[in-house]
Amino acid sequence: MGFLYVLVLVAVFLQKEALSTSDTPMCSSCGGGYCTSDNGCSCYSDVTATCVPESECAIVGTNICCPTGYYWSSADNCCTATLICNPSCQNDQICKNVNGVATCGCNTALYSGMNTSSIAPLVKCESSVMTVSLSKCLLEALGYDSTTFQLNNNSDSCVNTYTQTISNVTMQSIQALPQTGWCGNEVANDSLKVYYSNVLHIGIQNKSIITVNPTNISFSCSYNLTMQTSLAAAFKPSFNTVNISVSGEGSILTTMAAYWDQQYTTPVQDNQDVPVGSNIYLGIFSDAQDVSKFVLRTESCYATPDNNVNNVNRVAIVLGGCPANQGITAQVQENGVSLESRIQFNSFAFQGQPLVYITCQVRMCDKNTTCTGCGASRSNGDDGTAMLQIPLNFLDDFSSSASNTVVSSRALLVSSFLVYLSVKLF
Ligand SMILES: *[C@@H]1O[C@H](CO)[C@@H](O)[C@H](O)[C@H]1NC(C)=O
Ligand SMILES: *[C@@H]1O[C@H](CO)[C@@H](O)[C@H](O)[C@H]1NC(C)=O
Ligand SMILES: *[C@@H]1O[C@H](CO)[C@@H](O)[C@H](O)[C@H]1NC(C)=O
Ligand SMILES: *[C@@H]1O[C@H](CO)[C@@H](O)[C@H](O)[C@H]1NC(C)=O
Ligand SMILES: *[C@@H]1O[C@H](CO)[C@@H](O)[C@H](O)[C@H]1NC(C)=O
Ligand SMILES: *[C@@H]1O[C@H](CO)[C@@H](O)[C@H](O)[C@H]1NC(C)=O
Ligand SMILES: *[C@@H]1O[C@H](CO)[C@@H](O)[C@H](O)[C@H]1NC(C)=O
Ligand SMILES: *[C@@H]1O[C@H](CO)[C@@H](O)[C@H](O)[C@H]1NC(C)=O
Repeated sequence: MGFLYVLVLVAVFLQKEALSTSDTPMCSSCGGGYCTSDNGCSCYSDVTATCVPESECAIVGTNICCPTGYYWSSADNCCTATLICNPSCQNDQICKNVNGVATCGCNTALYSGMNTSSIAPLVKCESSVMTVSLSKCLLEALGYDSTTFQLNNNSDSCVNTYTQTISNVTMQSIQALPQTGWCGNEVANDSLKVYYSNVLHIGIQNKSIITVNPTNISFSCSYNLTMQTSLAAAFKPSFNTVNISVSGEGSILTTMAAYWDQQYTTPVQDNQDVPVGSNIYLGIFSDAQDVSKFVLRTESCYATPDNNVNNVNRVAIVLGGCPANQGITAQVQENGVSLESRIQFNSFAFQGQPLVYITCQVRMCDKNTTCTGCGASRSNGDDGTAMLQIPLNFLDDFSSSASNTVVSSRALLVSSFLVYLSVKLF
């Protein structure tokens, strides 16, 4: 051991000698120098004169400090001819010389004897994104090309792929959104969960010896059926989303939709007719990151025959957070206690009008104040409040044909929902 140590020291000494006699001077011989991660090392006296560092490189710590063919050794505090990758490679990589540059590459030797059954995809299901990750080096060792990841729909916008390190293993990952209709997703549900699946297609390396066939790996994520996840799973739900700004808290995305069921998991779709007298469940929910501070309180909900909430024919469903009892049967099932409001009412129609617009005024309510009970809203200006509106096809059996103005304003409203939808998804 001691003998080896001496040998290493001698080698370092020799390299230093060789370097200092080459074209580039040692920084110490030009009166001192400094190093940056952009430009390497230069003399204090002349910034255009590069110099070979000793301890000057310690803060930068990368090979940019050293002349071509030399590599920074933090252990020796100098540039050496021994190939060193900075930063050092992951456990499944080795440092390789690629055109004189020290580059971390897969250590394919680690994977000899493995076959395609060793590919174990890691699937991470988060509320807003599904991520599938596979060992990049294993794929390369088997003959796959990890840059060819694709989903069922192979258009560019569907390929969100990147390299990351998970538990010291270099992984190639691709992301998919848990949304109906997104990039070839398949969606299914049972009474408790909604399932999204897609297929990862992996191509092979372009080389003369072909050792594997392109492969397809199915993956899926399941989500509890809630107001929120059922809306994402529905094909064309009728909903409205707004950002509620709360001073000091940023903005809180809040959504309103109508549901057919007491569980609030079967959204009323855009094209669906709701027979008069049906039970309709109005769900409103907020995506607050800091759930500890606020609850959602629905102050009022009105029904109108057009999108003007002040229409003279308007009927109140909820007032002061409680049923308005103005001829419409309603129950406030949850309000002011969580980030969801649940309101049930019986559908009805305005005579001669094909649509009923439901408009609710909601407020992010500070938990330290009174958020439940019936009563007028505390007057705190517009801070933390918002208006949400959805149109619904409440049909009585004798309803006459639609008037043009109402139809066109509905079309406008629907298209503004779609704009929100695409902002939210991407
Ligand atoms: C893959 O390797 C395992 C053992 O490492 C072996 O049991 C299995 O049969 C192999 N599969 C194929 C398709 O060759
Ligand atoms: C694939 O996705 C793109 C962009 O999202 C979309 O325009 C296209 O229609 C999709 N193709 C298929 C076959 O679904
Ligand atoms: C990653 O590798 C480093 C250095 O080899 C080691 O210290 C660390 O414990 C490893 N982390 C994991 C999660 O394996
Ligand atoms: C689940 O899917 C079935 C069709 O497969 C559908 O009829 C049902 O409404 C869905 N349930 C919910 C709660 O979305
Ligand atoms: C595969 O490699 C050959 C030769 O290197 C090249 O001519 C060909 O264009 C490559 N094909 C693809 C699909 O990249
Ligand atoms: C993978 O999927 C593609 C596209 O759906 C299909 O053409 C191909 O035959 C599949 N390959 C395998 C091995 O299943
Ligand atoms: C999903 O539902 C189950 C059973 O109701 C519950 O235990 C679990 O915490 C829920 N998961 C999430 C992420 O909400
Ligand atoms: C609410 O009360 C808690 C403790 O009672 C306090 O720490 C917090 O600052 C209060 N929040 C506001 C917004 O007043």
